[in-house]
Amino acid sequence: MVPVDFEYVEIARAESPRGELVLRERRTPHGPTALELRANGVFVMDTVETTTERELANRALSLVEQPRRVLIGGLGLGFTMHEVLADPRVERCAVVELEQALVDWMRDGTVPHGPALLADDRATLIVADVAMALEEAEPAAYDLVLLDVDNGPGYLVHDTNAALYERPALQTARRALRAGGALVVWSADRAPALGAAMEAVFGGCEAVAFEVDLQGRSEHYWLYVSRVPSAS
Ligand SMILES: C[S@@+](CC[C@H](N)C(=O)[O-])C[C@H]1O[C@@H](n2cnc3c(N)ncnc32)[C@H](O)[C@@H]1O
Repeated sequence: MVPVDFEYVEIARAESPRGELVLRERRTPHGPTALELRANGVFVMDTVETTTERELANRALSLVEQPRRVLIGGLGLGFTMHEVLADPRVERCAVVELEQALVDWMRDGTVPHGPALLADDRATLIVADVAMALEEAEPAAYDLVLLDVDNGPGYLVHDTNAALYERPALQTARRALRAGGALVVWSADRAPALGAAMEAVFGGCEAVAFEVDLQGRSEHYWLYVSRVPSAS
C-alpha cells in the first residue's frame, strides 16, 4: 500500500469537564481536505466518510409516514441533522449535544457549514447529555429518536455513555417515542448485546450493515433499528 502523507492543522480546541475537544483539518496532497473531530485524543468523525451518519437519518425517516418530531443524540459535524432537516415532513428537530464548544463552533462558522444548518428554525440545539434529555422528555414526544454519540457501544467516546445501550435507557427511549415511532442507533461495529437489549425492549431489532470506504480501507458500519408497535 502507498503511504499517505497527512498534514494536520488545528482549527479549534476546547476543554470541558470530560477533557479535550479538538477540531482539525486533515490535508493530503492527493485527496480532499477533511475536517476531523477528536475527543480526548479519540477520533470521533470526519467530513469525508459520512454516508452512514446520513443513512442514520434517511433509514429512520423512511420508517414512519409522518416523522414530525425528531430527536438526535450527538451533533457531531451535523450530517445527520442536515438530512433530517432536508425532509419537509419534519416539523421539529431537537439535537442534544454534550459539548458546548462544538455547538459554538457550529454557530460561529468555525465549522463552515454550521451557520446555514442552524438557521433552520425547525432546529433546536440543546447542550445536555442525551440520556438526561430522554429522561425529561414527555411520553410519546417524538416520532424518531436517533443516537450517534459514540463510535458504538463497543468504542465509547465517554465511558458514562455505556448505560445508554442497556435496557433501562432503551426503555426510556421507547417511552419518549409515540406508537409507530422508531429508535435507530449507529455503531462502528457489530453490537450483538445492543441488538439483544433493543429486541428485549421493543420486541424486535434489525441490524443493518453498510460498507464504507475509510481512506482506501473497506469496513462496515452498522445501524440498529427498532420500532414501537403501532397502536391498533
Ligand atoms: C459521532 S458524533 C455524531 C455525528 C453526527 N451523527 C453527524 O452526522 O455529524 C458524536 C457526538 O455525540 C456527542 N456526545 C457524546 N456523548 C453524548 C451524550 N451522552 N449526549 C449528547 N451528546 C453526546 C459528541 O460530543 C459528538 O459531538
